[in-house]
Amino acid sequence: MSETTAILVGASSMLSKEIAKQLSASGMKLVLLTQAPETLTDLLPSLPATTQVIPFDISDDKQLINQLTELWQQLGNVQLVLVNTGLNSYSPELPWQLEQEIIDVNVKGFAAVCNTCFRLFREQGYGQIAAINSIAGLRGGPSVAFHASKAFAINYLEGLSMHAQRLKLPIDITDIQLGLLDKAAMQQSSLWLSPVEEVARQIVRALLLRKRRVIVTKRWRTVAWLTKLLPEYIYNTRHWKQKKRK
Ligand SMILES: NC(=O)c1ccc[n+]([C@@H]2O[C@H](COP(=O)([O-])OP(=O)(O)OC[C@H]3O[C@@H](n4cnc5c(N)ncnc54)[C@H](OP(=O)(O)O)[C@@H]3O)[C@@H](O)[C@H]2O)c1
Repeated sequence: MSETTAILVGASSMLSKEIAKQLSASGMKLVLLTQAPETLTDLLPSLPATTQVIPFDISDDKQLINQLTELWQQLGNVQLVLVNTGLNSYSPELPWQLEQEIIDVNVKGFAAVCNTCFRLFREQGYGQIAAINSIAGLRGGPSVAFHASKAFAINYLEGLSMHAQRLKLPIDITDIQLGLLDKAAMQQSSLWLSPVEEVARQIVRALLLRKRRVIVTKRWRTVAWLTKLLPEYIYNTRHWKQKKRK
């Protein structure tokens, strides 16, 4: 694992910082791309491996493609790109502005990063693209654009994996689907919430094992399985609530 570099795209979240700590402890050099470099000042001294922080804006696709390409030329030997950008928001009025922002970050920005890194890995001859995604992508939901954007990500990653196989290239694609942690946090449910260190540990393990797809934490696997299986009249709990009120 020594002398290899990992790029983390969207490095400022609590989960990203914990993943950075664990990857750095495994000996990987890190390049942290973030729209908020100042939020990483406290983290840097705690990372044992060489780390670079670079300002980055996922909403500007043309600039990010140039930036990634230039960065690649400087770095050489990039082993892993982990995409951890994501935007989620909910308003019952469904204002277009909100939906558009989610689509810009979670669909357009996400695809631009994955597409560019795939092409750069293809030239390099090997590598791994991973993304922190969500089981929200398995079905539609009230955060309409968010659920749909995560479905896009699941589908996009599967397509890249198939494409790498078709080209017979050792490029691994890892889709890390998180449970609906925000929802669990709001319900103060310790049954569903795991400490961020444990979430990061399961993610880093899946990365190092180059898994194709993983649900984190493990306890969300049953929810994911049921989510896919249930017919809409049971999955959509609004149906039951309306019936109860009558
Ligand atoms: N937290 C949860 O409960 C949960 C549950 C299921 C799935 N997920 C998904 O897991 C991934 C990581 O989630 P997380 O909790 O670590 O962090 P998060 O708060 O969802 O954000 C992850 C990163 O996205 C970037 N980002 C956020 N808003 C942005 C915006 N408007 N424009 C550009 N970049 C923006 C930030 O990167 P920088 O500031 O570093 O640029 C941030 O570090 C996301 O894709 C999220 O949708 C999260």
